[in-house]
Amino acid sequence: MSSFRIAVFASGQGSNFQALVEAASNGKLGGSIELLVSDKPQAPVVQKAQSAGIQCHLFQPKEYPSREAYEQEIVEKLNNLKIDLIVLAGYMRLLTPVIVEAYAGRLINIHPSLLPAFPGKNAIGQALDYGVTLTGITVHFVDGGMDTGPIIAQRAVEISASDTPETLSESIHELEQQLYPGVVSWFAKGLVKLEGRKVTIDAKVCRENTGFMSEN
Ligand code: GAR
Repeated sequence: MSSFRIAVFASGQGSNFQALVEAASNGKLGGSIELLVSDKPQAPVVQKAQSAGIQCHLFQPKEYPSREAYEQEIVEKLNNLKIDLIVLAGYMRLLTPVIVEAYAGRLINIHPSLLPAFPGKNAIGQALDYGVTLTGITVHFVDGGMDTGPIIAQRAVEISASDTPETLSESIHELEQQLYPGVVSWFAKGLVKLEGRKVTIDAKVCRENTGFMSEN
């Protein structure tokens, strides 16, 4: 049994999921992806998991009486697999306390804006509509709110006058695929500490022990 065990939750294309799978197979993640959880059994991410031989927990929310009911089933699965870290990668559902409380401090998300700007859906469109010239990506702990948890790492992306939703989305995805596996590797090495809202990362150990740099 691998020492650091990861579950990824995703609803869509799965480009972040794929980057995590590749980092794991190159030995750069510091852990293994044991499970994909998806509320969209037809999503491309599910095919990616199946091709990589990763176990999937697929469900249709409308078949359950409540969000708590399907989350209870997920928590049982996570506990059975002894999951150390839940990584949300384009999982488009708010979590209830059933998961948030059971995995507090072991549950992270990536969001395509510089939080606290533009939380929620369509963050890239929100940034373009607002007219900001700088946006970016945020990896954060998940709490009970909508993209409100303590911030672990952020990277900025400049918006140029010629950017469209498609070009900006491409730049953001590229950056996400670099940053997210790195952040997960910091967790696998026990480098991330949380006190209140303040997150610290042991940057020195980080540089020595992983291929990814901590710059925040
Ligand atoms: C990513 O850009 C991620 O930041 C975003 O969904 C995309 C998933 O892409 N997440 C959110 O907006 C969460 N609020 P992917 O399926 O190709 O990894």
